[in-house]
Amino acid sequence: MAIDPNDLVGIPIKDFITGKNMPVDVHLKLSETKFILVAKAGAPVDLEQLKRYENKSIEELHVHKDDYSKFIDQGLRIAGILLSHKDLDEHKKAQVLTKAAANVFQAFDRMNFSPEIYNQAKTVTENCVKLVEMKPDLLHLLKSITELNQNNSAHAIATSTLSVMIAKKLDWVAPATIEKLALGGMLIDVGQKEVPPEIVKKRRIDMTHEERQAFESHPYRGAMLLQSLNIVPDDVIAIVYEHHENAIGQGFPRRLKDLTMHPLSKVVCLAGSFCDLTFDINGNDKIRTASEAVHYIQKTLGQPFNKQAFAALKEIVEDSESKAA
Ligand SMILES: [Fe+2]
Repeated sequence: MAIDPNDLVGIPIKDFITGKNMPVDVHLKLSETKFILVAKAGAPVDLEQLKRYENKSIEELHVHKDDYSKFIDQGLRIAGILLSHKDLDEHKKAQVLTKAAANVFQAFDRMNFSPEIYNQAKTVTENCVKLVEMKPDLLHLLKSITELNQNNSAHAIATSTLSVMIAKKLDWVAPATIEKLALGGMLIDVGQKEVPPEIVKKRRIDMTHEERQAFESHPYRGAMLLQSLNIVPDDVIAIVYEHHENAIGQGFPRRLKDLTMHPLSKVVCLAGSFCDLTFDINGNDKIRTASEAVHYIQKTLGQPFNKQAFAALKEIVEDSESKAA
């Protein structure tokens, strides 16, 4: 049966190397309109064959759109096995998580946000919570995450894990609360998909009034996207909606203040802002170290975040800095 090229999704060859068996049918592109089936679902992964493709400068193999989530699921299953492996260190686990998040975001980029993709994101963040329970050092964690050069997913994993670290420092213990924080932290920027990428990449200072309005709509767009799935907890939607608010009413889109903000948002918006300052993302003109970011929030921005959450973040950064010294 002829394959419609519009029904196929390209996946980098290196992403096939982790499994034992091909989870789905895999196709090779011969021309813009012609694809051939090169491996059936269930067939063993032939590493030699994949190497040969790479040597011929073939960068991607293709799977059917309907099979794409099975492919991501396989990646997550493998990540899950790796993450529960006691011999794998925190550094490697943080990288496995960042890669898993990158795959989920890639699926989101290529297709509509669906309950499958949401559940995959949830699996990743459940592992973020497990990683934090291993009590990782913040600076090591950030270094491991950023080494992979997956900026958006690195930012998402860092926001998710740091939100959980701050909550634990505040002695928040309820597992449901911790899971929602981790999930909200990972999904804060889903609404950016609906904002033109050339605007998202710009520095805030370079945006026109209209561009700024479009950018500042992403928290609302993200909240609406999650709400439309009908399975996302309200607390997670509130986190996404409020993740650019701040305690003094100078955030966006609603200029809320500390008293009216959702308690979980207070933590995630601080973690997200800290990661904005320390990551190479969204036209960030200066990438700060962790302690420079804390100093900047305190001295230049005038402590616009919830005081207890900020004190917890500061303590986490200071502990980590003193270990590194
Ligand atoms: Fe954002």
